Order: sequence, then C-alpha cells, then structure tokens
Amino acid sequence: MEFNWDKKWSVGIDKIDHQHKELFDRINKLVSAMREGKGKDEVIETLSFLEEYVIKHFNDEEEMQRKSNYPKYDIQHKQHEEFKEELRELRKVFEKAGVSALFVINVQQKMSSWWRKHIRELDRDLGGFLIESSK
Ligand SMILES: [Fe+2]
Repeated sequence: MEFNWDKKWSVGIDKIDHQHKELFDRINKLVSAMREGKGKDEVIETLSFLEEYVIKHFNDEEEMQRKSNYPKYDIQHKQHEEFKEELRELRKVFEKAGVSALFVINVQQKMSSWWRKHIRELDRDLGGFLIESSK
C-alpha cells in the first residue's frame, strides 16, 4: 500500500504541502527498496535521501514557526526531534539485522501513522495559524 499525499492532508500552506508530498514520496522509495530486497547500500542510500529531506523540512517549518511566534513551537520541535531519532534508530536496526517482511511493514506503518498524526494534530494547526497571522 503506497503512502500517497492527497488534498485531505493539506495544511493550507503551499510550501509545507509540497514538502510533505516530497516526504511521502521518499518514504515510499525507502519502503519499496526494502520490499524489493535491494542491497544494503541501496537501502541506506534511500534512507539517507529521506533523512536529508526530513531535516530540511523540519528546519524550514521551524523557521516559519519562529518568525511568526507560533505558540506551539516547543511541541513541534519536540516531535520533530523524536522523528529524527526514530530514523537514526531505524538505521541502526537495519544495519545490524537487515530487512524482514515484518520489519518493512513496521517501518511503513510507523512512518505513515506518525505523519498522519503529526499533520492532523499539529501541522494543520500551524497552517491555520500562519494563514490567520498573515491577514
Ligand atoms: Fe511539523
């Protein structure tokens, strides 16, 4: 099951929506590389490709939050750090144990549910706040 972005995940801010879409794509690429039994190096490459974008996205989003004095910055920052930590953990587990079918399912489920929850509970609130404060 692909993890595709569609309008229901919009937070109302184009830049954030565009980055979320790119993130979902990179998560799919990682999951496919694992599922297709690609070699370790190739999987690590897709993981790095995802990590790199996650960092860029969180930095951009946090900059918007600081500039606008967004009141939930601390909660956002905390969740972002937790997700980065999860990715580091994933890399460790993968490097040690490689991939099993169960592992791939876990990765996909964990990531998609993390993003769904984060967008629903926090990024939508941020989008609304940014729209309001630009009025
Ligand atoms: Fe966020």
